[in-house]
Amino acid sequence: MNHFLDIHTTSATDLRHMIDHAADMKQARAGRPKGTRDDDQPLAGHIVALIFEKPSTRTRVSFDVGVRQMGGETMVLSGKDMQLGHGETIADTARVLSRFVDMIMIRTFDEAVLYEMAEYADVPVINGLTDRTHPCQIMADIQTFEEHRGLITGKKVVWTGDGNNVCSSFLHAAGQFGFDLTFTGPAQLDPEDEYIGFARNKGSTIAIERDPFKAVEGADLIVADTWVSMHDSQSSKERRHNMLRGYQVNEELMSHAKPDALFMHCLPAHREEEATSAVMDGPHSVIFDEAENRLHAQKAIMRWCLGV
Ligand code: CP
Ligand code: NVA
Repeated sequence: MNHFLDIHTTSATDLRHMIDHAADMKQARAGRPKGTRDDDQPLAGHIVALIFEKPSTRTRVSFDVGVRQMGGETMVLSGKDMQLGHGETIADTARVLSRFVDMIMIRTFDEAVLYEMAEYADVPVINGLTDRTHPCQIMADIQTFEEHRGLITGKKVVWTGDGNNVCSSFLHAAGQFGFDLTFTGPAQLDPEDEYIGFARNKGSTIAIERDPFKAVEGADLIVADTWVSMHDSQSSKERRHNMLRGYQVNEELMSHAKPDALFMHCLPAHREEEATSAVMDGPHSVIFDEAENRLHAQKAIMRWCLGV
């Protein structure tokens, strides 16, 4: 039994296997109606609990569809409607759920909740986003990059804006998949040293460049995310926007990257804020392939977790 808690807690070999497996599974069902089951039905007889303590569109739908395609069943639970949201401990919740379901995916605030769930659950636990990381997203991002441009190893990724949870998982991935990452954003929103240190210790070049135009020189991939994450207070919005405005990904910024650079955004986006529609809907953008690949990447993750 494997938990999928973070990119840095999973071996590079297993991560590589999951990406390749995801691509194979996507290929195998190309052109088939979305509701048809995969031929091999690896999750037949399995029930997966999907717990959300924050809003979600992509994570909710892609996990639900993925489980169904593989022949399993899902139970989508809102944290606030569970006793978990009314004082029951995480440990007790984990032990009870383990008596009913075969796997748990949780989207929560504090990452300690995720780790405690995994400690007490007898079934695999998957990280569907915390305040600090979003590993499923980055698996889909790696799959998407490689689908368009081949191996990501040795490439240059530029993260623009806030050094947030998605950025942290990108830094973990830089270390595990062997690519370089330049962060460009205001010093107040730099990624945490822990994540930068992980990638550097694995041999990746991690740079911080305040000038976004310099940062994107030679970039193979430019990534943006919202300037105000779900765990950020709404009262910080104006201050964040003022700090981040200069880091918007627009056509002028894209033109300073490699001519064939890709643009990604995990979505949901605030169009004309962190990125313009001209870029999001333009020739460099792969944002909807990226969204679709949540499905395929997570199917590979779930199969790895269950060993099926
Ligand atoms: N990218 C992502 O996780 O989207 P949702 O918040 O819609 O799940
Ligand atoms: N950084 C964003 C990602 C949403 C998928 C957030 O945490 O709100």
